[in-house]
Amino acid sequence: MSITYKSTAFKGGKDKHTFVFDLKNTAKNSSKMDSKNIPKLKNNELFSIYSAAADGTSTTLMKLKDNKNFSKEDLRVIGGRFYKEYKRLKSKTLLLNIKDFQIFNGTSDIDALQGFVEGFLLSDYKLQEVKSSATKKETLDIEVHTSGLKPAKVTELKSQLKESEHVSQAVHFARRLGDLPGNMMTPSILAKNAESIKSPALKVTVWNKTKIKKEKMGGLLGVSLGSAEEPKFIIMEYKPKGLKAKSTPTVLVGKGLTFDAGGISIKPSAKMDEMRYDMCGGASVIGAMKLICDMKLKAHVIALIPSTENLLGASAVKPGDVLTARNGKTIEVLNTDAEGRLILADALVYASELGAKEILSTATLTGAMVVALGNSHTGFFTRDDKLAEKINETSIISGENLWRMPLTDDHVSDMQGSYADLSNLASFRGAGSATAAAFLEQFVLKDVPYAHLDIAGTAWNASKRKSYHASNGATGVLVRSFYEYVKNA
Ligand code: BES
Ligand code: MG
Ligand code: ZN
Repeated sequence: MSITYKSTAFKGGKDKHTFVFDLKNTAKNSSKMDSKNIPKLKNNELFSIYSAAADGTSTTLMKLKDNKNFSKEDLRVIGGRFYKEYKRLKSKTLLLNIKDFQIFNGTSDIDALQGFVEGFLLSDYKLQEVKSSATKKETLDIEVHTSGLKPAKVTELKSQLKESEHVSQAVHFARRLGDLPGNMMTPSILAKNAESIKSPALKVTVWNKTKIKKEKMGGLLGVSLGSAEEPKFIIMEYKPKGLKAKSTPTVLVGKGLTFDAGGISIKPSAKMDEMRYDMCGGASVIGAMKLICDMKLKAHVIALIPSTENLLGASAVKPGDVLTARNGKTIEVLNTDAEGRLILADALVYASELGAKEILSTATLTGAMVVALGNSHTGFFTRDDKLAEKINETSIISGENLWRMPLTDDHVSDMQGSYADLSNLASFRGAGSATAAAFLEQFVLKDVPYAHLDIAGTAWNASKRKSYHASNGATGVLVRSFYEYVKNA
């Protein structure tokens, strides 16, 4: 992957691929281009893509919706769509001209070009390592023409594209963690991957089963009992030099359930393999930490990832069993498949003990989230209006759709236990995502702003929504949002 910059005039050439927004219907005016191919835009379409060959250069053109009121995220989607065309035509060097990006309402040329390149780079992901004959990955080669741009603007553009390189690498890092099958992404392997992230400001600590027991993490330990794989509690602390000595951390918590068979309350067989993705919350948090490190953000951030399998071994927790979480609260396990909340509970208690200034947790927590919002939006739950506002703003910047959901005392009532303090299963039908969030809230210290984000619908198989996602598989959702959240704090 290389990006080079040219201030000279824009010229095509053999093996190059140019990209143009076709505002003047260029194709119509060129005898060498096939005007029959100019697509008509349907009502709700923002853009349409078509290719033409001219002067030994292949050119992909985009016809845009007239008002050109495009967001940066729209440009990412265009970049992702364009990537497929670039691959289809076996193009080599991609030529981009800043001039083509100076046409948008509400998006500066630099932001538009950054969005385009980010969508392009985000698309360049494929899990190869599980195949015996992995094909060598071709490197992308992008040439950006900046003539007419002031030197200060060129510097700004370069730094923004550098950021996009880091963004795409971190998202791909998270996607890979998600895509690897359960036997190749165990809690121990997940921990090793977290440890592989190198930064002088990052310290990674991994607790094993003995330590987890000693630390009274009864939820995480309880869920791990059905599995031969050792559970891990992963702690990643990022604290760059130059912060106030008494800085309070933002704490990110991610569910790292490397395979969820449901436990004794076993899941149906169909698509059970997809439960490899049940560690995507953890993957998002780890990916975000990588990005925070790479971009050297000036912030104190701690990531916590409780990690285990949820299987049905002889020692597995049984329906009705009672577990005791780290804060002493007792939980009746009425359904062993509602395990995410059990392992997150301990992590949230620990997050509160760290003196968090705010806590954000994420998990592929409930099937009910998929029913409520499908794969277009991540639902988030918080009682804190200020935090909700901040998350909404983050969503606009990151381009990831985050949607606020209700969280009230009614949901808490539904989680009361009949024998123990709490039950892991709601006593009333419906609102399964909200009651799960209400359960989690019981483990966060009062007065600490807290939000939970349920990515059950958005963590994988969301390709129909965003062109830059793989056709199926992990999306790396929230890496960008967590990063932007911390960056703009
Ligand atoms: N990991 C699942 C949630 C899930 C299901 C995510 C499908 C994505 C797609 C979670 O551990 C689970 O099994 N939740 C149960 C909870 C229920 C038993 C209260 C669910 O949603 O069915
Ligand atoms: Mg489950
Ligand atoms: Zn699960």
